[in-house]
Amino acid sequence: MREFRADDWQEYKMDYGSPHKELEPLDQEVAIVDAALKHLVEAGILPHTDYPKDKMLAHRSAVAESFEIPWTAISPRQQRLIYAINAIIQPRHMIAAGVFCGNTFISNAGAAVGPGACYEAHHLIGVEIDPDEAERAERNVRRLDPTGVARVVAADAVDVVRDFGDEIHLLYLDADGTDHRGKGIYYDILQEAYHKMPSGGVVLAHNSVNSAEALASYLEWVRDPANMSASVNVILDGEGLEVSAK
Ligand SMILES: C[S@@+](CC[C@H](N)C(=O)[O-])C[C@H]1O[C@@H](n2cnc3c(N)ncnc32)[C@H](O)[C@@H]1O
Repeated sequence: MREFRADDWQEYKMDYGSPHKELEPLDQEVAIVDAALKHLVEAGILPHTDYPKDKMLAHRSAVAESFEIPWTAISPRQQRLIYAINAIIQPRHMIAAGVFCGNTFISNAGAAVGPGACYEAHHLIGVEIDPDEAERAERNVRRLDPTGVARVVAADAVDVVRDFGDEIHLLYLDADGTDHRGKGIYYDILQEAYHKMPSGGVVLAHNSVNSAEALASYLEWVRDPANMSASVNVILDGEGLEVSAK
C-alpha cells in the first residue's frame, strides 16, 4: 500500500461545527499539501503540483461567506488538497457522490466556478440522496456559481453515475449509503463509473483512514494495479483521502 502521511496527522484536529477556523499557520498548510501533491506526482497520478494559491484563498473566503454548513469533516488541509487536485487535473466532467450540504462538492467544483475558478468545465454534478440536504447544497452552490455548470441533484449516486452519458474525468466519493453497505457503496459507485473514465481519470475517496474497515473491499480494488494505475492514501488528517488514477 502506498501512502503519504503528514507527521502531525493525529494532532491536526478540526471542530466539525467550525469549519472555517484556522488550525495552523497558512504557510504550514500550504507546505504540507505541496508535499502531498509532490508524492502524487511521483506516483504518476498528477502531472505537476502547480495550482493558483491566491484563487484557492478566494474560493475559501467565498465559501465561508456564502455557504450554510451545519457541520463538515473537510479540514482546511483537505479542502486545499481537493481544490488543488481539481485545479491540476481540470476535469471537464466531475461527479461527487454524497455531498451533504455541498461543502465537499464545492471543494472540488470551486476550481472551475466562482472566485476560485482557474479553468472551464462542462458538467460538475453533486449528488445527494437526501432531498432536503440536496436542496440546501444546491442553494449554497447557486450563490457561488450562477451559471449552473456546477449543480446538485437529489438522487442515488449509483443511478446518476450509471445514467451519465459521457466520460467522467474525476469522481469524488463520500456517500455513506442508506442500507447495510454504508461507505461500502463507494465500490458500487466506482463500478458504474469505471468504464466511463479515461486513462488518467482520478477517483478521490474521503474517509480512507477513519472508515478504512468499511472501505476494505473498495481500497483493495483501487490498490490492485490490475484495476487502477496507481493509488495513494493521503493522510493529512484523521479522515484521509485515497487518491487513485485509472
Ligand atoms: C456523511 S455525509 C458526507 C459529509 C462530508 N464528508 C463532509 O464532511 O461534508 C454523506 C452523505 O451521503 C449521502 N448519501 C448516502 N447514500 C447516498 C447515495 N447512494 N447517493 C447519494 N448520496 C448518498 C447522505 O445522505 C449524506 O448526506
